[in-house]
Amino acid sequence: MTATIGDQKNSLNSDPSRGIILVVDDNPANLQVLSSFLDQSSFEVWAARSGEKAIQRLENDNLPDLILLDIMMPGIDGFETCKYLKSESNPRVRDIPIIFMTALSDTADKVKGLRLGAVDYITKPFQHEEVLVRVEHQLKLKNLTKTLIDKNTELQQIQTQLIQAEKVATLGQMTAGIAHEVNNPINFIAGNLNFVEEYFRDVVNLLELYQKYLPDPPTEIQNAIKTKDINYLLNDLSKIIQSMQVGTDRVTEIVSSLNKFSRHGEAGKKLANLHEGLETTLLILGHRLKANAHRPAIKLIKEYGELRLIECYPGELNQVFMNLISNGIDAIEEIKKNQYFDENFRHIGMIWIKTEVIGERVILRIADNGSGISEANRTKIFDAFYTTKVIGKGTGLGLSIAYQIVVNNHRGKLSCHSTQGEGTEFVIELPIR
Ligand SMILES: Nc1ncnc2c1ncn2[C@@H]1O[C@H](COP(=O)(O)OP(=O)(O)OP(=O)(O)O)[C@@H](O)[C@H]1O
Ligand SMILES: [Mg+2]
Repeated sequence: MTATIGDQKNSLNSDPSRGIILVVDDNPANLQVLSSFLDQSSFEVWAARSGEKAIQRLENDNLPDLILLDIMMPGIDGFETCKYLKSESNPRVRDIPIIFMTALSDTADKVKGLRLGAVDYITKPFQHEEVLVRVEHQLKLKNLTKTLIDKNTELQQIQTQLIQAEKVATLGQMTAGIAHEVNNPINFIAGNLNFVEEYFRDVVNLLELYQKYLPDPPTEIQNAIKTKDINYLLNDLSKIIQSMQVGTDRVTEIVSSLNKFSRHGEAGKKLANLHEGLETTLLILGHRLKANAHRPAIKLIKEYGELRLIECYPGELNQVFMNLISNGIDAIEEIKKNQYFDENFRHIGMIWIKTEVIGERVILRIADNGSGISEANRTKIFDAFYTTKVIGKGTGLGLSIAYQIVVNNHRGKLSCHSTQGEGTEFVIELPIR
């Protein structure tokens, strides 16, 4: 990077210098005049006698705030030096403003200099007041630009955080809401099923008593027993009640999982079992793993190691698992879509989830054999709003939210390895305490 605003503040605040100016001129007299004048105006002045020397000087860690550059020099001239400093390959120095020094009459030179990326020019012979005003003006502009860029980055981060908070809150509220709504009726059914079973047993006992003491019922009853196949009916009814009980148990389990997923009403870090978080997330995403009209079911391979409880925000980590696993499923669907022209293409989508403890850290790997990510795109995936999905499908926030949660909120690491066309692996590393 170029000299940052922090550096500038240092040079402006910690010493009386108003900034560092690199003067590049092969003429010692010019150098002398400018240096002493700028020095008197409280600038720190560095001098270079040629373009080569200037470039050499800019290889140092410390960078000037502005460059005054002569055009006519032996060796590489001012234009060449400017071109080099402003090139894409020089991100460290290309934002340092350059002011050309030119003879009064050279309009073509002025235009050429400005086209090459210089911000201004001063004319020889130098008018001290003019030089000072132009230099001050450019330094002010540079500081303002830097402040603007910083503020913009800050605002973007705040925006992502707000959307993240909103997403977490909405999903949490929704799952908590569903859990709450389903909770009452399911308790009602589960509770009454016990009575149904008890009453059914009473009725069966009563029937058996009838059969015992009235073994020869009238013909109408005998016919009814035959046509209704009463033994089968009694046997089956008892099975139906059992399966209804299994069903209600399952719904009760899901409600409890939804409650755990939203971790409703929890604030602050908790000791939590990450496998529980993974399982509740998988429960919520379960429907997406099933076979559909476009592809066979996705195979889920879990290799859970022995984990200890870790200190974390469990609701947030569930959000991370949710984003990574949904991305994996999306990538598997993507590979299928890319091959739609090939009728015989059979791709079994797979998602691997592996957990282990290494030292004081928990490592979670979530991998898929989906479309993969090209090397060029891999640098962008954690950026907010970066998405390759169609409008309406992706907001491009999943990974940037995951990154903030893992790296900022948990002091962990989130990395991505991928081969295009083969698949992707995300690795989450979290400190146990
Ligand atoms: N497992 C993966 N395999 C292939 N590409 C992936 C994978 N995970 C992420 N990507 C790429 O990274 C991009 C950004 O992912 P991110 O989760 O941030 O946003 P998104 O999934 O597009 O939208 P959403 O906000 O709904 O999550 C995706 O659009 C996709 O191109
Ligand atoms: Mg996503």
